Amino acid sequence: MSESTIESILQEKRLFNPPAEFSQNAQIKSLEEYQQLYDRALADPEKFWAELADQELHWFQKWDKVLDWQPPSASWFVGGKINLSYNCLDRHLTTARKDKAALIWEGEPGDTRTLTYAELHQEVCQFANVLKKLGVQKGDRIGIYMPMIPEAAIAMLACTRIGAAHTVVFGGFSAESLRDRLVDGQARVVITADGGWRKDAIVPLKVQVDKALADGSAPSVESVVVVRRAGKDVDMQPGRDYWWHEINQGVSADCPAEPMDSEDLLFVLYTSGSTGKPKGVVHTTGGYNLYTHMTTKWIFDLQENDVYWCTADVGWITGHSYVVYGPLSNGATTLMYEGAPRASNPGCFWDVIEKHGVTILYTAPTAIRAFIKMGEELPNARNLSSLRLLGTVGEPINPEAWMWYHRVIGGERCPIVDTWWQTETGGIMITALPGAIPTKPGSATLPFPGIFADIVDLEGNSVPANEGGYLAVKYPWPGMMRTLYGDRDRFRRTYWEHIPPKDGQYTYFAGDGARKDEDGYFWVMGRVDDVINVAGHRLGTMEVESALVSHPAVAEAAVVGKPDELKGEEIVAFVTLEGSYNASEELSKELKQHVVKEIGAIARPGEIRFTDALPKTRSGKIMRRLLRNVASGQELTGDTSTLEDRGVLDKLREGA
Ligand code: WT7
Repeated sequence: MSESTIESILQEKRLFNPPAEFSQNAQIKSLEEYQQLYDRALADPEKFWAELADQELHWFQKWDKVLDWQPPSASWFVGGKINLSYNCLDRHLTTARKDKAALIWEGEPGDTRTLTYAELHQEVCQFANVLKKLGVQKGDRIGIYMPMIPEAAIAMLACTRIGAAHTVVFGGFSAESLRDRLVDGQARVVITADGGWRKDAIVPLKVQVDKALADGSAPSVESVVVVRRAGKDVDMQPGRDYWWHEINQGVSADCPAEPMDSEDLLFVLYTSGSTGKPKGVVHTTGGYNLYTHMTTKWIFDLQENDVYWCTADVGWITGHSYVVYGPLSNGATTLMYEGAPRASNPGCFWDVIEKHGVTILYTAPTAIRAFIKMGEELPNARNLSSLRLLGTVGEPINPEAWMWYHRVIGGERCPIVDTWWQTETGGIMITALPGAIPTKPGSATLPFPGIFADIVDLEGNSVPANEGGYLAVKYPWPGMMRTLYGDRDRFRRTYWEHIPPKDGQYTYFAGDGARKDEDGYFWVMGRVDDVINVAGHRLGTMEVESALVSHPAVAEAAVVGKPDELKGEEIVAFVTLEGSYNASEELSKELKQHVVKEIGAIARPGEIRFTDALPKTRSGKIMRRLLRNVASGQELTGDTSTLEDRGVLDKLREGA
């Protein structure tokens, strides 16, 4: 975020009350009702969650204990037996929802497909049996590297049906990134496609899978299932690779859901941290099911006839929780769109809304800013009157973008829920409830009932209103991550020790800077660690630096974020070269391409700055804070006395 955005957020005073007509029929109808829920949860969190778990979900067997909290390890609904796929599908089949659209899908070229609950159930059961046929067992891990097509959701639900854990890898990640994740998760099967549409071109997913598996570099992978989507020729390795439509042939669609322990591994999803390789965030079954169910129901105010569209890719947590599991657990109609705004159709979002009568739209500030730039004419040319609720996620939204979303897309009648959360939290944590909580542009407003969030200093003390501090959560919640895959120690260090535990009290450290205002509203400012948020996607500076240093020309690299009007932040890399290489425009291009090859297009640096040396402390630490100042052309802030060689910095600034 730019300084001016932060400035405008700090001065934001506008308040928007939920429209009366909206509140009347809403799940949660008033601020008082929200307050009562919040207070009830505060008085007895375990009772609060247990009652909801009982009312809202199907359990094969009830739990013995609601919460077992051995900090930082939480177990929810201990002893309970449940299946997420069952809650998303089977239980709706005995109701009128059986023939309701579960999934409406639209491909980028405009092809569409609708699956009712009965049909989706059938597809999921059949593919679950395919997985079994491939030898997959409860507890195994399965890689999913797919475009946004129904088979992605089918594959996920098939895994959870038989108790295999999926690891979905965003289709924009490189073969190298895919391989790292498959190896770390020891995946046995990879599910992919011959290609997927992305901005008028085809992403060759199967080619990337072949690269990731080449030379036995991911030896755990035994089979690859390939959906025919793009009609591209691909190499099929006999005995390893199977076409989805062929291996499905003649397979039974009878596959009862496996009763899982509430704490059984559900999925692993990798995300960037400030140091080292991406972290495998672990979510488990019962708590995740309940938390995504409740948040979807109350925050998106689901009504039986809604057509709900979350624009996230299933490769991210937003796609897991709010394209697939949350909506389906609630028996809603969820829309999945393969495309993205592109040169040939910049207004495609508005086409989709008009065509399918979308009532709820959940998207990202970076997308909204791009729409603003394209002009009002595009949305104005479409009938968006079906919309009744809007949401945003991924980064702080600047008030101007909020106002535009409210006016141009929401026709000034739709409440906006600005939802703060993380891969690690499983579901939305701080948000308005649209019929109950008045909104302020740029604020995520108040914590969800049962979430005890606060702004604290590094000792864990609450800071006064309107003072900046660290966003923290003071009590476990059902959707929280359970650990980092294979690295409990890093889990403890990263999330539970920044704020030292006091008297047995553990505080979850989110890694975001924020403040609360006089009304208790949260204003999230952004990451306080070395994580960069590019277009709502998380990248670790270390990851990008490692990618750069793996190029023979690069001696040393330091990567920082620079405010960007559209993407929120863009990557600037400061690079020193090995002796025999010279800085050139060509090399700069080559290095950017190298990062794309190593990580994926989302990590492409916007700018490479060649330099003779990097500013370091006397103990040899790169001073990224100063590089951030240089990158964005700002005055140097804070102390520079620990710099080893002030000249390095002066030179960098001259070169700016
Ligand atoms: C980080 C988490 C889970 C959502 C998608 C991103 C930032 C997310 C907001 C918001 C301000 C936000 C935070 C957070 N963030 N939503 N509404 N307002 N900041 O998930 O990749 O795990 O990233 O995204 O910095 O820590 P993620």
